[in-house]
Amino acid sequence: MRIPVLSLLIFTLLFILFPMHFARMVLGVACFRIFVLGPQGPIEGAFVTIGKKTGVFVTDGMGGIRVPSHLIGSEYSVAAEGYFITHGLLSNKTQNVFPRKLSGVDFSDYAWVHPLEGSQNCSECHQSIALEWKQSGHSRSSTSHRFLDMYSERKNNGNLIQGWSLSRDFPEGKAVCAACHAPGVGAGNDGIEDITKVTGVDKFGIHCDFCHKVNGVKNLEVGLSHGRDFLSLSRPDKGQVFFGPIKDAMRDDNSFSKIFKQSNYCASCHEGTMFGVHVYSTFSEWQKSPAAAKGMECQACHMKPDGLMGNVAPGKGGIDRNPMEMASHQMMPGGLQKMLQNSIQHETKVIKGTNDCTVGVQLKAVNVGHKIPTGYIDRHLILHVKAMSNEGELKPLDGDRIPSWVDQSMHGDAGVLLGRPLLHPDKQFTQPFWQWGGGVVVDSRLEPENEKKWSWRFSKKVEKVKVSLIYRPFWKEQQLTKKWNDLDVVVFEKIIRAD
Ligand code: HEC
Ligand code: HEC
Ligand code: HEC
Ligand code: HEC
Ligand code: HEC
Repeated sequence: MRIPVLSLLIFTLLFILFPMHFARMVLGVACFRIFVLGPQGPIEGAFVTIGKKTGVFVTDGMGGIRVPSHLIGSEYSVAAEGYFITHGLLSNKTQNVFPRKLSGVDFSDYAWVHPLEGSQNCSECHQSIALEWKQSGHSRSSTSHRFLDMYSERKNNGNLIQGWSLSRDFPEGKAVCAACHAPGVGAGNDGIEDITKVTGVDKFGIHCDFCHKVNGVKNLEVGLSHGRDFLSLSRPDKGQVFFGPIKDAMRDDNSFSKIFKQSNYCASCHEGTMFGVHVYSTFSEWQKSPAAAKGMECQACHMKPDGLMGNVAPGKGGIDRNPMEMASHQMMPGGLQKMLQNSIQHETKVIKGTNDCTVGVQLKAVNVGHKIPTGYIDRHLILHVKAMSNEGELKPLDGDRIPSWVDQSMHGDAGVLLGRPLLHPDKQFTQPFWQWGGGVVVDSRLEPENEKKWSWRFSKKVEKVKVSLIYRPFWKEQQLTKKWNDLDVVVFEKIIRAD
């Protein structure tokens, strides 16, 4: 009696665990093999998508996969690095699939396709992606007025640039910037030596066609070769090719590349040492972050699907997909202020004693893949604490004070700077990275998941305390000199009564 019960149990268990194998073994459901082959033989690790719901099969060392026969009649797509995505209809005659191989050569004479205008422009078919991209800094990286106000010697109207100017003060460094800010500019083009001379598609900075001609990264040291020089491109001499993350993309010029889901892709431009200064360190901060340990790449936060686009080319040959799997090209989902607010936790305590009043502030960066702030070296946060009595403002009795080079109007107030100031040796003002003499950069930014605490003591007359955290993309003095609008982003501001 016991044996049949046990075998029934095993039978059911096997059926639940391995329905496919088991059905084939025991019930004799037929499977058949297809092989993915290249000019040099089997392609291992190719991705085969069959129908919409079966998931993705990966080919073995012989280029083969085993397909249950009931899938006959479904559409299939085969994606492999270095090949165009191939489509077909599974029939019982399907045995070998031969994807078309890419030339593997990068033709530097290729003319970039315009993102927004003219023949075959990307926006014509990928309109919602184009709108997202246009909102991102990527579309303005070679023309934004603040970048040019730092880079150039003169304004468009011929007036001299006030304040910091790379072209005036360190012209030897001018050719370095295009590698990331105008990566499509090719050898021999005037735009390399002087980015203000970029023309045509290069005016769109980091544009669609550039990013989607990337098929990998070179085996070079990240941070020391920049942007264009770190990325491996494959521009066609004839025809077209677009690399991307979709394994069953429908156009015959599409090619899958895994690099699109990896932080390494972004590292090309978001890590950079220039003139001996570690100006951009976002990628290396990410490498040390808890987010990286959890396997969250840059794209997981910055290109997070917003659920609004299910078809990348509606009416133009695109197919409907799960909108929660389609990336957004906006890069700062919800905007900088929201992102800062969601990633900085804060707590303030005001304690009135018999002799004095203590204000304690605690900040912690969460849900972020790097320090806060990150990116351009001049980005900083100012934590500003103001104590008021009936008679007016009170100066702190002890605790950190805001130095004058952060902001004249806050000089001496209770507060701290969270940033990487490149201070002049006399410690009176900050310098641009291209003029910094070198030495250790003091870095006081927030590290992910690491709490920071400060406290200040004021006289016991304190009635209320105002605590604010402000994000500033550039040093105040330069903003004033260059007559830019106020660029402050208020992360939080709160008023606490002391009682
Ligand atoms: C900075 C480089 C960059 C630029 C510029 C860029 N893309 Fe992408 N694109 C990517 C990356 C990276 C992904 C993959 C993101 C993911 O899947 O997480 C992607 C994904 C895609 C996809 C696949 C569908 C999706 O959204 O997941 C399409 C189609 C696409 N991009 C088209 C475009 C078009 C059109 C433009 C210009 C309007 C553009 N891209 C600009 C890097 C870029
Ligand atoms: C070819 C160089 C290049 C590549 C590749 C690149 N970036 Fe950028 N990125 C830039 C530059 C340059 C800027 C600054 C643009 C400006 O404001 O002038 C920028 C700006 C940004 C910003 C700031 C927000 C904004 O809209 O300005 C974010 C976030 C960002 N990139 C994320 C990414 C991520 C994530 C990837 C990888 C999927 C990536 N970038 C790939 C060069 C690049
Ligand atoms: C005539 C219409 C059309 C134009 C123009 C066009 N595309 Fe596409 N593109 C498509 C279609 C259709 C797909 C496949 C969509 C699908 O599978 O749902 C596609 C797919 C893609 C993919 C996905 C590849 C993959 O494997 O992940 C990328 C990336 C892409 N296009 C980039 C571009 C860029 C960049 C431009 C401009 C230089 C451009 N496309 C111009 C129609 C177009
Ligand atoms: C876990 C989510 C997460 C990951 C992963 C992540 N970021 Fe961010 N990123 C954020 C948040 C939140 C902000 C806004 C707060 C701040 O400025 O640091 C931000 C801001 C930025 C900015 C804007 C900086 C500025 O002030 O101009 C850039 C550029 C950027 N990230 C690039 C990257 C790159 C490149 C990677 C991968 C190496 C990456 N991020 C990984 C969440 C993330
Ligand atoms: C390794 C790639 C790389 C190189 C090389 C590079 N940059 Fe950048 N640059 C970036 C990235 C990425 C950002 C955006 C970071 C962020 O959003 O904080 C940026 C942002 C900036 C900004 C801020 C723009 C704004 O509107 O907020 C300025 C100014 C700037 N860069 C100047 C320069 C100058 C001048 C050079 C040449 C000496 C240069 N960069 C070279 C990658 C690069």
